[in-house]
Amino acid sequence: MPVLAVIFILVSLNADDLREGEKLFSQKGCYACHGIDAKGNSSYPSLAGKEVKYIVDKLENYKRERIKSQRSDIMTSYAKNLTKDEMKKIAVFIHSLKENKREGEEFFEDSLYESD
Ligand code: HEC
Repeated sequence: MPVLAVIFILVSLNADDLREGEKLFSQKGCYACHGIDAKGNSSYPSLAGKEVKYIVDKLENYKRERIKSQRSDIMTSYAKNLTKDEMKKIAVFIHSLKENKREGEEFFEDSLYESD
């Protein structure tokens, strides 16, 4: 396959993940605490720009109840409502919010799905 075709496919896949991630972030209610720009507030942590792998790992750990903090129960119930695939898409979206970039030109530099 020509290199350009490969690049095109990669770009569209990531754009899809980004769009779906954005949708999931509101459908699953994440924005209610973390804010629509995922920047958090005085009560809830900021997520914007964090690495995809970091976010997916955190969500997996909440889901499997491997994180136990004073307030982790909140996240456990939300993480249990996510499949691995949904976590990745949400993470791609959250990561793209780095420096207020919404269309995520930057996230190619990172290996998105290395957590598998
Ligand atoms: C009801 C409020 C609330 C909602 C809704 C919520 N969160 Fe959280 N989130 C929290 C709190 C509180 C913490 C910190 C928990 C702790 O102390 O471990 C947290 C922590 C996190 C962390 C770890 C941050 C870090 O750097 O350690 C991630 C990732 C995260 N939330 C993602 C999400 C996603 C994705 C959703 C939607 C599916 C979501 N949250 C919905 C309250 C919420």
